[in-house]
Amino acid sequence: MTIYRATVMDTPVDPFGGGALRAESDIAIAVADGRITARGSFAEVRAAAPDDEVLDLRDGVLLPGFVDTHVHFPQVRAIGALGMPLLDWLEHSALPEEAKLHDPAYAQAIATEFLHGLTRAGTTSALVFGSHFASAVDVLFTQAEQLGLRITSGLVVSDRLLREDLLTTPERAYDESVALASRWQGHERIRYAVTPRFSYSCSSDLLEACGAAYKDIDNAWCTSHVNENVTEVAEVTRLFGGTSYVGTYQDHGLLGAHTILAHNVHPTDAELDMLSASRAAVAHCPTSNASLGSGMFPLAAHLQRGVRVAMGTDVGGGTGFSMFKEGLQAYFIQSLLGAQGMSLTPAHLLHLATTAGADALGLREQVGELSVGKQFDAVFVAPEADSPLGVGIWHASSADDALAKIFALGTPADIARVWVDGRQIKHDTW
Ligand code: GUN
Ligand code: ZN
Repeated sequence: MTIYRATVMDTPVDPFGGGALRAESDIAIAVADGRITARGSFAEVRAAAPDDEVLDLRDGVLLPGFVDTHVHFPQVRAIGALGMPLLDWLEHSALPEEAKLHDPAYAQAIATEFLHGLTRAGTTSALVFGSHFASAVDVLFTQAEQLGLRITSGLVVSDRLLREDLLTTPERAYDESVALASRWQGHERIRYAVTPRFSYSCSSDLLEACGAAYKDIDNAWCTSHVNENVTEVAEVTRLFGGTSYVGTYQDHGLLGAHTILAHNVHPTDAELDMLSASRAAVAHCPTSNASLGSGMFPLAAHLQRGVRVAMGTDVGGGTGFSMFKEGLQAYFIQSLLGAQGMSLTPAHLLHLATTAGADALGLREQVGELSVGKQFDAVFVAPEADSPLGVGIWHASSADDALAKIFALGTPADIARVWVDGRQIKHDTW
């Protein structure tokens, strides 16, 4: 057993539902076999386990591991291509890079860079948009399993309107998805997600095949994009003869409590009601929405209609792996929306980056907060004492103020340690 002595912040009670930040200084968390077995004052927890190892983390803040509900594995080298709207960006930046993953050696290098990016940013669970190539998805799962991360991912499929070398057929999409799932579903912390890229690049027959895979793969997840860009939305509605964008997924059996759709910047009320009724969740990707000029996310409308919302970085449309940056950008957008926006507190941002993601991914029983009974997935934020964040934290007027500074100033460089199931993730550079 190990005892972690630290200042701990988390959001066990949803701040959007009346909860507040839980912040406790100099407490102890005892972890045995990856699970939190005790939490309380250091004296109390220590007295019950006087011989166990103590890790003194009092020079920083311990947070739950981040949950990134939308991030693209093949786009790690495409981050930062600014100045294009979605469809141009896909054609000129993202898809040429994605095509390179045809080569398994290239996919190996990308998977390593991608998983380093995730873990260095403190992300311990992620719903990962995979590759169009089954061999590259195998590579991702292999490396993710070795690292021990909680990864849900799958084969990305499309059969129209993208470059030829990324297209498949409904039959092949079904067969390769089921084959990958049979190899990986339930291995350690790996789960399978059926992944039509977006209805724009998927015929009705392909979505049907995805619906069949979603049904046939035991405990499968489903992820895609929705209502991201106004040109894209108009084209999808035209391609599907007037069906709403969310409706295209609903009509093919792809909406459910295991579905997470990214963006949803331009939903109708009817679509929000469809998402709510099906218990599908939305991944809000704030830096991507700003970077690609997609629009301002209507968070209040989602929550008012009972749609679950979590956060995603959307690397590489998004500008990096940091959930601090996503949280800050989510705050900015709601602030800029004025009367239509929501006033987000640091507790809301932490919730969106942790508990909400765990809930959307069906992992709420295991992770998302640092309470007794949960798995110890955690992030230690320990900035240099004389850095702006270090100074800010130590001079903060309250725990909420300290957390606001973490979101405003924090970067992956401030993350000193990361654990999944109580096991510290190690890299050569850590
Ligand atoms: N829609 C379809 N593919 C993509 C993608 O790779 N990134 C984003 N942001 N939107 C998409
Ligand atoms: Zn995306």
